[in-house]
Amino acid sequence: MSIDKTNDKQDMIALEKQREYMQKMRSHLSDLEQKTGRKQTYFLLTTGCQMNAHDSEKLAGMLETMGFAESPSEQKADFVLYNTCCIRENAEDKIYGRLGRLKYYKKQNPNMKIAICGCMTQQDVVIEKLQKSYKYVDIVFGTFNLYKLPELLYESLETKDTLFDIWKEEKEIVENLPTVYKNTFQASVNIMYGCDNFCSYCIVPYVRGRERSREPEDIIQEVEKLVHTGVKEIMLLGQNVNSYGKNLENTISFGQLLRQINEIEGLERIRFMTSHPKDLSDELILAMKECKKVCNYIHLPIQSGSNSVLKLMNRHYTKEHYLELVRKLKQAIEDITISTDIIVGFPGETEEDFQQTLDVVREVQYCTAFTFIYSKRSGTPAATMDNQVPQDVIKDRFDRLLQVLNPIVAEVHQKQVGKILHVLVEEVSKQDASILTGRAEDNTLVHFKGTKDCIGSIVPVKIIDNKTFYVIGERI
Ligand code: 5AD
Ligand code: SF4
Repeated sequence: MSIDKTNDKQDMIALEKQREYMQKMRSHLSDLEQKTGRKQTYFLLTTGCQMNAHDSEKLAGMLETMGFAESPSEQKADFVLYNTCCIRENAEDKIYGRLGRLKYYKKQNPNMKIAICGCMTQQDVVIEKLQKSYKYVDIVFGTFNLYKLPELLYESLETKDTLFDIWKEEKEIVENLPTVYKNTFQASVNIMYGCDNFCSYCIVPYVRGRERSREPEDIIQEVEKLVHTGVKEIMLLGQNVNSYGKNLENTISFGQLLRQINEIEGLERIRFMTSHPKDLSDELILAMKECKKVCNYIHLPIQSGSNSVLKLMNRHYTKEHYLELVRKLKQAIEDITISTDIIVGFPGETEEDFQQTLDVVREVQYCTAFTFIYSKRSGTPAATMDNQVPQDVIKDRFDRLLQVLNPIVAEVHQKQVGKILHVLVEEVSKQDASILTGRAEDNTLVHFKGTKDCIGSIVPVKIIDNKTFYVIGERI
């Protein structure tokens, strides 16, 4: 589904309305500050993917515009907000556990407001559970109306009951929300929302809705603004960036979008995620090769190396097609690194299927792989499939996968030793204040000695040692 241009007006009206609520909240919070002699605070917990992390940057932007200050402690915060993930069951369990603890904190501090939003709340079963057992939660909202936080907070000042505001689909994409970025030199930019792929194990299409691409002009304008404020590296976000633009009125490919962004003066690096193998075109590979700012790294989820499992997963590619893509990427782009997602224990997965996954891991030589134990998500086709794999078998396969994977990751990193990589310095190491950490263009995590004035710069570093999941370098 594309967002047609007549929606632009709706989008502006929606934003204007929230700006008014932010203003109202601002004066309310300033009155409270006068009374209590301290600023009102918020604690925002984010779980899940980069999409959620970026949504949280917007939630924090709205909260800070309202006049809240960030609280380091959940217990002492005046407003606690959980932006949740539901991709696997344990992500949800952790949230229920934390909500349980919040009940106790709220008893100590009855003025505490609690809100929950994000992917979890888009499911009816979760809403039922919250209504029944978590009555002390003040506000529940979803993924399609995140921008309504100021209005919901203001309304909740007057109500004792939980406010539920969950939409089944998006009405408009609200642009230009205030945003707090994690730092001044890197920023994420949504290029699309939702997913139409319906992989049979995955809940995302049900909680994030149909695929909607943003207009290229809006994206370019946002990136230009960010670059103007000092951003060097941007991460373009979408559940399946390779199908970007297909449903826009004026169709455009992801490769074409990359070429336009590559022209933005002052921008140094372009990253993107996630790529679905079924939509990775030769045209995109060529764009990656020719655009100097596009990093030589791709996250390309395989999920399984078995064709029969891939078919059951509704992934629309074969192992052979995937390996052919890898071959083309490696041939076209010098020193490209590739990472992936793998699910172990999908219903019906046999030992032979699993061996096929191990074969792909050996052949591709991933720099990293995110490995997951299959989690049954109710409402997805896989949840009702026969032959659910027993937990002990899954656990054993999962351990064996890591035994194959980790030496490969180490080998890939070993090949970096002796090279000079250009590292965008992100922060001082949490373990050692004399060590800086950052990422090379190919996404390799590099640790090296340095002082914090380098943070935010791209510096040449000679790699001298390999520590499996990261490398050690020396500034040159
Ligand atoms: N169980 C386990 N892993 C899952 N993923 C998505 N759904 C599930 C599930 N039900 C993994 C996929 C996807 C990543 C973001 O999460 O590997 O690429
Ligand atoms: Fe889920 Fe598949 Fe969409 Fe990724 S592409 S979000 S795994 S349905």
